[in-house]
Amino acid sequence: MRQKIVAGNWKMNNDLNQGLELADEIMKLQSEIPEDVSVIMAPPFIHLADLNRKVQNTRLKISAQNCAAEEKGAFTGEVSASMVRSTGSEYVIIGHSERRAYYHETDDILLKKINLALKNDLYPIVCCGEQLEQRENNQYFKVVQEQLENTIFKLSSEAFSRVILAYEPVWAIGTSKTATPDEGQEMHKFIRKLISDNFSDDAAENTSILYGGSCKPSNSEELFKQPDIDGGLIGGASLKSKDFVELTKTFS
Ligand code: PGA
Repeated sequence: MRQKIVAGNWKMNNDLNQGLELADEIMKLQSEIPEDVSVIMAPPFIHLADLNRKVQNTRLKISAQNCAAEEKGAFTGEVSASMVRSTGSEYVIIGHSERRAYYHETDDILLKKINLALKNDLYPIVCCGEQLEQRENNQYFKVVQEQLENTIFKLSSEAFSRVILAYEPVWAIGTSKTATPDEGQEMHKFIRKLISDNFSDDAAENTSILYGGSCKPSNSEELFKQPDIDGGLIGGASLKSKDFVELTKTFS
């Protein structure tokens, strides 16, 4: 059965102490989190080990925001999937649009990262989504389909069963311009149909597909109500403990 998930992508925010404080605040509120909602925090790499120790024996899970496309070796500044796993983290975000845009991560690179994440027992949270111009030119289905065909549809169905997807229209990220619930549902339904065509109805039914892009407590209820939206990948609102926990309560 697919899971309801709220995942917070901290991006490059919070030094170590601020990050530990935010996690403390979220932990204090955890009794408010509905039992059927999984909550994941994705801090910068430097927080991973400490945060994993902190959330031990709680329901909170930790994700990295990225991992290297190579296994190990002379890649100065990179952090491998096995290093991420060794911190206790269970998830890794792969293919966020900021990585695609600013660090030129192509689908080929992303597929290598996804494979390494899976090899190291991590659950990849794989992002897809179109840019504003592609939305305006009505190319958004095609763009997302290609992103998926070049990456996760190349996996075996067994490997795919560990993947969480996040649809994040680039024009909605950090812009306060959210996709409408109808726009979100339309794309999520399309993605689920592609999964069904590529793998099986079961695979489609069991895959969690998160929405991301200016999602906050004031709009999440309408989004999470949609039959094919299983939760959110949250940027800005994940940096405020109250908002982040509030989001988990907006599933109907
Ligand atoms: P946002 O970011 O919620 O700040 O728009 C979402 C994301 O980039 O994952």
